[in-house]
Amino acid sequence: MKLVDIIVGTRPNFVKVAALIKAYKTSKLGFSSFKLRLVHTGQHYHDAMSNSFLSQLSLITPDINLNVGSGTHAKQTAEIMRRYDDLLSQKKSHLCVVVGDVNSTVACAITAKKLNIPVAHIEAGIRSGDDTMPEEINRIVTDSISDFLFTTSKTANENLIKEGKNKKKIFFVGNTMIDTLLANVNRLVIPEVTKNKLLKPKNYFVLTLHRPNNVDNNRQFIKLLQVLGELTRHWPIVFPVHPRIKKDLIDRSALPINFIFIDPQPYLEFIYLIKNSFAVITDSGGLSEETTVLRVPCLTIRNTTERPETVTLGTNQLITVNPKNFPKYFNNLFQGKWDSGVTPPKWDGKSAERIMTQISKILKNC
Ligand code: UD1
Repeated sequence: MKLVDIIVGTRPNFVKVAALIKAYKTSKLGFSSFKLRLVHTGQHYHDAMSNSFLSQLSLITPDINLNVGSGTHAKQTAEIMRRYDDLLSQKKSHLCVVVGDVNSTVACAITAKKLNIPVAHIEAGIRSGDDTMPEEINRIVTDSISDFLFTTSKTANENLIKEGKNKKKIFFVGNTMIDTLLANVNRLVIPEVTKNKLLKPKNYFVLTLHRPNNVDNNRQFIKLLQVLGELTRHWPIVFPVHPRIKKDLIDRSALPINFIFIDPQPYLEFIYLIKNSFAVITDSGGLSEETTVLRVPCLTIRNTTERPETVTLGTNQLITVNPKNFPKYFNNLFQGKWDSGVTPPKWDGKSAERIMTQISKILKNC
């Protein structure tokens, strides 16, 4: 029986991979000719960033946890490579499937490839053009050595072709993160904060920030929050705080009172918050995809995006990283001048099944 490794490491990986596991387990097409081995690198290890996702999304318990934890980029990447290499030397797989653009993605892709194990990359070909972002480096390196490239958009296909990739290895399949969203949107869970703070639908903002250049400098970070507090006209801002932000260092007395700080939320509670919010303010890429499908306005605090379809088709706008540019976007938002957006092609809930079908064909030659 052929063995396929599926790599997860961080919160967004669990969401993407949940759809693959579900397709594997439930598809009428039947994928019993191969076995999956779910490898968790342990890049994210907080319960709220890891276990809660595994249980809510009915993901199988990972077969292996490499328990790497945090570190500098080089140390974390190297440690994942070392530990995954050990695993492969005990039992080699026939195919290594990586998702997204995090350190776990690139580390496992390199490790497998060096052992001549073919690599399939899900969410291949997206490019921000900004190589000061660690994710952009991870994307470029992963795609450059991947044998099979599964994409979420035609733009991603074009990027890969421009980089000289063989068309026959590129498969435009859609978006597995959206598969998971569509599969769960009718079983969302009302979060505590909604009840405790009596949040009314479409009457509050959700804020998420985790990119080092937005959150690592405490002074700039506080300044950013102050501006957002004003521009949201003191509407409640629910802010699930990512663990890289040291919550205790936030001087709350320097902030407007409309901020509601909460812990990172489990998936079903988080999507509930998003779906019912007036708008989302974020520096995340994945969130701009989810808000597009949920038709919720999304203001992205970045200058570039690797997901241009969320802007051209969806509800996302890049408000830049300079707070001086923010007011016009908030004015438009409050005046109702915001595109309601359409769902990008093939973001239809069937992407994982397309991928699994292709993988079962690929495995005949692995
Ligand atoms: C990582 C990904 C980013 C992704 C994000 C989703 C990389 C380069 N970055 O960023 O692309 O959008 O995940 O959340 O892979 N920490 C904890 N507990 C945890 C995880 C992290 O306390 O469970 C803290 C640690 O202090 C750690 C820091 O957060 O040093 C950063 O974690 P890391 O996994 O390196 O990057 P993220 O910022 O989470």
